Amino acid sequence: MKYKTLTHYLVEQQREHQSIDPELRLLLEIVARACKSIGHAVGKGALGGVLGSLGSENVQGEIQKKLDVLSNDILLEANEWGGHLAGMASEEMTTIHRIPNRYPKGEYLLLFDPLDGSSNIDVNVSIGTIFSVLKAPAGAEGRDIEEADFLQPGSRQVAAGYAIYGPQTMLVLTTGNGVASFTLDREMGAWCLTGENIRIPEDTKEFAINMSNMRHWAPEMRRYIEDCLAGQDGPLGKNYNMRWIASMVSDVHRIMNRGGVFMYPWDAREPEKAGKLRLMYEANPMSMLIEQAGGASIDGTQRILDIQPEALHQRVSVMLGSKNEIARIAEYHQQ
Ligand code: AHG
Ligand code: MN
Ligand code: MN
Ligand code: MN
Repeated sequence: MKYKTLTHYLVEQQREHQSIDPELRLLLEIVARACKSIGHAVGKGALGGVLGSLGSENVQGEIQKKLDVLSNDILLEANEWGGHLAGMASEEMTTIHRIPNRYPKGEYLLLFDPLDGSSNIDVNVSIGTIFSVLKAPAGAEGRDIEEADFLQPGSRQVAAGYAIYGPQTMLVLTTGNGVASFTLDREMGAWCLTGENIRIPEDTKEFAINMSNMRHWAPEMRRYIEDCLAGQDGPLGKNYNMRWIASMVSDVHRIMNRGGVFMYPWDAREPEKAGKLRLMYEANPMSMLIEQAGGASIDGTQRILDIQPEALHQRVSVMLGSKNEIARIAEYHQQ
């Protein structure tokens, strides 16, 4: 069977929707190519000497895995010369990365979590790359891009996506007109369109949360999960199943395919932080994808895409997935 390639899909999207200009298409194709390189390195594992940790710690206070840094470098090198970006930001970089003066600058900002699910790298469980595209603010072209230029609400994203390095290598992408998925043909090196207008089932009986943290959650989160565990004789009247892969990309990909809710809530262990996940390059891109596929994404009380960021590495409490179940979780947070 002949599949449309990513380029073919993006050219058609460009014709259909004026929001995708050639520079954005170039950016997305370059990011997709960088994800192929990351997936190739991931696939080598021990044979490629990419497993294990470095001695370094990132701005999150996490020990960096070799693949965290390798993936970050692949994305930086792939995107510096293209002329489509004004700057980049990453989970693995303390400050923003400006485009060197030897290259032309463009109007887009690229933010990414180069390797999501790092704790799964050494145990051969699916991991991924998450990316978010914003436009540089008007007037930024004449000056150096600043960190403040990146601090835009998720609703301003012009594109978002993730690659998942699992049994298949896949790319899931939105440019604001629905969600498409591509499967990598490893022999051809081509991203083949294998899913279009992805829709998340509005109801679910499956939740994803790290249950070991239950005693640290806010009461409303504990009450919701207790009600799920009460099963069909409980207040929610159905038996729930649970999944937790500890790679956000994998848990979100499951929800994209069969529905469900994913939660990483506020936790009393770090009360000053809203949660573990990062707003700019995890929660915002995933929230755009989830909403574009008919799901919902909140921090407990508000839509994540409405949050006005105050800091590049800002944390946020995340509850996303099947629309009607998220509405139910929001009710627990309103009581
Ligand atoms: P990262 O590897 O990019 O730091 O992200 C890991 C995140 C997310 O992918 C996952 O859902 C969550 O951390 C898992 O957290 P726990 O290990 O606390 O379950
Ligand atoms: Mn990390
Ligand atoms: Mn991550
Ligand atoms: Mn990461």
